[in-house]
Amino acid sequence: MAIKVPASGPLNAKILIVGEAPGVTEEKLGQPFTGVSGEELTKMLHEVGILRSECFITNVCKVRPPSNDIDAFIWTKKKDIPVGFIKCLGKWVHPAVAEGLAELDAEIDRVKPTVVIALGGTALWALTGEEGIMKWRGSILYGRCGRKVIPTIHPAMILRQWDWRAIAVRALQRAKGEAELPEIRIPKYSFTLRPSYQAVQTRLNQLLVAASRGPLYLSVDIETRAGFIACVGLAWNRLEALCIPLMCIERLEGYWSEIEEEHITRTLQALLTHPNLKVIGQNFAYDSQYFAHHWGYLPNLSDDTMVMQHCAFPGIRKGLDFISSMYCKFYRYWKDEGKNWDPRTTPEDSLWNYNCLDAVNTFECFEVLSGVLRSLKRESVYDFQMHELHAPVLKMCLRGVLMDKNAKGKLSLELFDAMAKSEQWFIDILGQPLNPRSTKQMKELFYGDFNQKEILNYKTGNATLNDEALQKLAVKEPLLRPLVDAISDYRTLGVFQSTFVEMPLDPDGRVRTSFNIAGPETFRFSSSENAFGRGGNLQNIPGADKEGGNLPNIRRLFLPDYGYTIIDADLSKADAQVVAWEADDKELMQMFREGADVHSESAKIIFPGKKIIKDSYEYAIGKRFIHGTNYVATARGLASKCGITVHESERGQTRWFQAHPKIKEWHTRISLQLQTTRTVY
Ligand code: URA
Repeated sequence: MAIKVPASGPLNAKILIVGEAPGVTEEKLGQPFTGVSGEELTKMLHEVGILRSECFITNVCKVRPPSNDIDAFIWTKKKDIPVGFIKCLGKWVHPAVAEGLAELDAEIDRVKPTVVIALGGTALWALTGEEGIMKWRGSILYGRCGRKVIPTIHPAMILRQWDWRAIAVRALQRAKGEAELPEIRIPKYSFTLRPSYQAVQTRLNQLLVAASRGPLYLSVDIETRAGFIACVGLAWNRLEALCIPLMCIERLEGYWSEIEEEHITRTLQALLTHPNLKVIGQNFAYDSQYFAHHWGYLPNLSDDTMVMQHCAFPGIRKGLDFISSMYCKFYRYWKDEGKNWDPRTTPEDSLWNYNCLDAVNTFECFEVLSGVLRSLKRESVYDFQMHELHAPVLKMCLRGVLMDKNAKGKLSLELFDAMAKSEQWFIDILGQPLNPRSTKQMKELFYGDFNQKEILNYKTGNATLNDEALQKLAVKEPLLRPLVDAISDYRTLGVFQSTFVEMPLDPDGRVRTSFNIAGPETFRFSSSENAFGRGGNLQNIPGADKEGGNLPNIRRLFLPDYGYTIIDADLSKADAQVVAWEADDKELMQMFREGADVHSESAKIIFPGKKIIKDSYEYAIGKRFIHGTNYVATARGLASKCGITVHESERGQTRWFQAHPKIKEWHTRISLQLQTTRTVY
């Protein structure tokens, strides 16, 4: 007989918390959230000042599903619906869930909480009918019950992914504030949609007058369609915004007459380039590419909320929906209104409203983030990123590089030939064709015919033959090395073909990229296709194959502009020098000063007794090994990267640190600094 775990808590609670279903501990103790998830929940509630004892706590389903897996009780597939399941809220569910839903409704009716907290996707669905907890978390919604619902991440999920804890705590903080009043205080937005010509010009001129009196912050956001600017949203505070439509579904020639559009775009340019105007944007490098391409100017960008978030919390998400969920007083996920806008079913006003919401939310995030950066003392970091790096980097994106079309065509043929040769080589040595792109054929060959032990992908748990797995196989079975190298070259040739030869150029024959200065958490840039979907990553362009292989030099495809020269400026052994000086390793420093061949000396440490010749295999591996070790790579990780055994790798690291104890000390010093101050100088 299934054991039912009833709800618990005071009947006059202002906060009602809904989980999914009880687990083993809850079943034993007869109370919801008494196991590990419950402990975490209690801690998080207390952190934001909510007393657990003052909350009414319940679950969507009052009995424990088999193996604690709710999917056994809520059928997500369309087919094979188990006998006895009942349709509830658009899904087929076990009778225990149907009963739980009815009980939940009755509990909410009885307790009459001011706010209901939905923990996880099942509770979100049960209370609102919505799907996708990561999308909706932190939103202030109305539930089916007519009461305020705030969904957040389930504590069990936080125990698996610790970074999400702060996000969940933020939603609980919001719930605490919202518990004061039963109604939702939706901000009183004043959005101008479908404006007349007069209304646009009047507003733009008012803003121009304001700018002429002193600094004026204006949040700007564009929506684009088919490579064109569909509308421009402007917000001058957290509530007021104007959407200037340009494209219009109802009038294919555009929202305005030609002359009206000309006047409006001219006034807009006067405003956005006014010296006192301080444009605030979110990922404005994208918008800037459109302004430059279609209108030939760049708005006076002052602040970018994406860069602000990056400087405040590197490595944490920085999309507008995410940062709004953290910083806006009122937040309700709205991004689907723009992303999924379908002109066949929804009036364009919905897109224009979305555009205004983006603009006001950006404005509010900017104001809050300014304070966050101040309190974290990151203003100087942000100032450098935004006010020194942004403009020259954008200039590089807009300028692009000329590509040699003939060389590109030639390279395509070369790649084809090289791949055909490899295919023939596979036939010669295997006695049958091999397509390295076919997972099935690769698995049959390595795990079937060659009987190798399967290497599993640690995320999916499935057998894999990705590049890393292949390298591991070659380390374990050296006879496979030539085949593994040929397969990895073949794959690289394919990547060259799809990445560089097929990279779409701009109509002027140049290739452009979008550099993102708010890229990875290490503060390097990321580089991807430009705002028009052309070009690509221009940061990792392979040069001549230094390891003596046959891979082509892709850098040859790029041409300098007339009167210019392309230089390859790469400080010799820069990384190793920085490490020597940072670690204050006197011996290494002296070697650099004397111009000694440091890499040869390093290679001798892992290949003791071997004569190291410059640019030999051992030299290259030694260089890679020491570089990795200096950057705290593990012996195991380096073994697969360098094609040596784990034992050799461990021995190499021990020897290296014995010879250079100062580097080890430097590692310890930096980790301690990071752990205690989150800052490194
Ligand atoms: N998880 C839930 O969703 N509910 C509980 O009661 C315990 C764990």
